[in-house]
Amino acid sequence: MSLNPRHFLDLWKLEGSDLRAILEDAKRRKAARAGWPKGKRDTDAVGDGRTLAMIFEKNSTRTRFSFDAAMRQLGGDVIISNAVDMQLGRGEPIEDTARVLSRMVDAVMIRANNHQDVERLALSATVPIINGLSDRSHPCQIMADLLTIEEHRGPVAGKTLAYVGDGNNVCASFIHAASKLGYRLNIAAPAVYHPDLQDLARAAAEQGQVFASDDPREAVRGADVVITDTWVSMGDTDHDERLDALEPFQVDEQLMDLAKSDAVFLHCLPAHRGEEVTDEVIDGPKSLIWDEAENRLHAQKSILAWCFGAI
Ligand code: CP
Ligand code: NVA
Repeated sequence: MSLNPRHFLDLWKLEGSDLRAILEDAKRRKAARAGWPKGKRDTDAVGDGRTLAMIFEKNSTRTRFSFDAAMRQLGGDVIISNAVDMQLGRGEPIEDTARVLSRMVDAVMIRANNHQDVERLALSATVPIINGLSDRSHPCQIMADLLTIEEHRGPVAGKTLAYVGDGNNVCASFIHAASKLGYRLNIAAPAVYHPDLQDLARAAAEQGQVFASDDPREAVRGADVVITDTWVSMGDTDHDERLDALEPFQVDEQLMDLAKSDAVFLHCLPAHRGEEVTDEVIDGPKSLIWDEAENRLHAQKSILAWCFGAI
């Protein structure tokens, strides 16, 4: 336990040097275990003797399995629970949950409906809290995405990333890291599903190169990376309205052709082929989605190592 645990709540709250250290640690760890069985521990086993608790208020495949595999590779352990099975699910204050879990585990990852609950958990916890997705942001995903971009295209600094579609939690975390890591972010979203204005204002105040419009062609023109996400996120109730408003924002081959000739495509998954992206793009040669999914594991090991004070 620590009086000042290293929480991983949002990328805008971290120093650029911390984000860089996490990315470099992830590259090193991934390279060091190339060809190893997936269950074998890293040689430094920085999670040895540590337990991560995971709380899920929403469904998950990648986040759940990658954090579990990550802790095993770091030599630690996990306890996983859906929030509905906890007293939290029937109204026990999240502050009390934080105090109890802080006595039993070394870090807590939460996937929460309301971002405020992630913040409240962190305020009362004496161990690191990790945001495994909220309605407002998805910082672990964007670390994996940046790792994937750097593996395939070199440093993100100076690159142009184009995010096309819903101005949602994934879009927000791309905004949060832009000024920290020095990439340009062009966002194209319909006015009704625009990115968070506070996020845009913060990025501008930090001299981040973040530009938002409702023109996908303009956003993608000359980009190094094209990114999209589902049009209907977990918790969204306006399914039909979203599909109507977002239809002009589908990433198809014509749109990809406006990006650089060696541009790559990212999607955090799960994807809805035929909605936000065509089969030809997501399953085509520019798509890096499987490396991106694998990199959830590598990036999160380094996020955990950072939370444990090992980097
Ligand atoms: N991308 C992502 O977070 O996937 P899951 O919802 O499966 O965890
Ligand atoms: N924006 C999506 C991401 C899923 C990983 C959602 O919140 O459902």
